[in-house]
Amino acid sequence: MKKFLPLFALVFAFSSEALALEEIKLPAPDTKGGIPLMEAISRRQTVREFSPKAIDDQTLSEILYAAWGISHDGKRTVPTGRDMQNMRLFAARKDGVWEYDAAANSIKKVSDIDVTSYLAKQDFVETSPLTLIYTGTDSQYSPMAAASAYQNVGLYCASRGLNNVVRGYFDRPMIAKVLGMEEDDVIITQTIGWPYM
Ligand SMILES: Cc1cc2nc3c(=O)[nH]c(=O)nc-3n(C[C@H](O)[C@H](O)[C@H](O)COP(=O)(O)O)c2cc1C
Repeated sequence: MKKFLPLFALVFAFSSEALALEEIKLPAPDTKGGIPLMEAISRRQTVREFSPKAIDDQTLSEILYAAWGISHDGKRTVPTGRDMQNMRLFAARKDGVWEYDAAANSIKKVSDIDVTSYLAKQDFVETSPLTLIYTGTDSQYSPMAAASAYQNVGLYCASRGLNNVVRGYFDRPMIAKVLGMEEDDVIITQTIGWPYM
């Protein structure tokens, strides 16, 4: 058994490295578009119905930018207590879980697991192509950042004709396990998708 160990170690090292290197560069977000702000505010609403149609990279880039992008001078699109920027944003899709890297405007795969079953305590989640997972280690400020971020995303969705719902009802222990973090650090989720046409 002993002589097989280095081989196992090698295979493990390769597979985890391959995962760490999987990155999708996103197109630049269009920061000039959208409907007028007051109209977006008026239209924002929770809609619990999602077609399985995929979210294209341009739209994903803009959703992530609205939530947690870097807009100017190293500042985020949402305010954070003492500018700590203590939040990590993940995008759960059918092909796994990805972390948003705002500086690189990319997503990096952190897990191959389709976490739909951990998110889908409500049936409508099963068909949706995207759920954002907001996390952070500061018990006071991270949830406030997440709330600002999901509001920005709600406004973006209103502007783009996407449906969305903020959701606290999911399997927090399992999501924390997949992300390799403490349960308390998983703040909230937001499920997003196109309406049925
Ligand atoms: C912190 C938070 C947690 C929520 N959790 C859920 C949830 O688990 N499931 C759900 O269907 N809706 C959830 N919602 C959506 C609310 O039910 C919804 O925002 C509320 O009914 C008001 O509707 P509106 O967003 O259209 O104004 C949540 C909203 C917030 C802000």
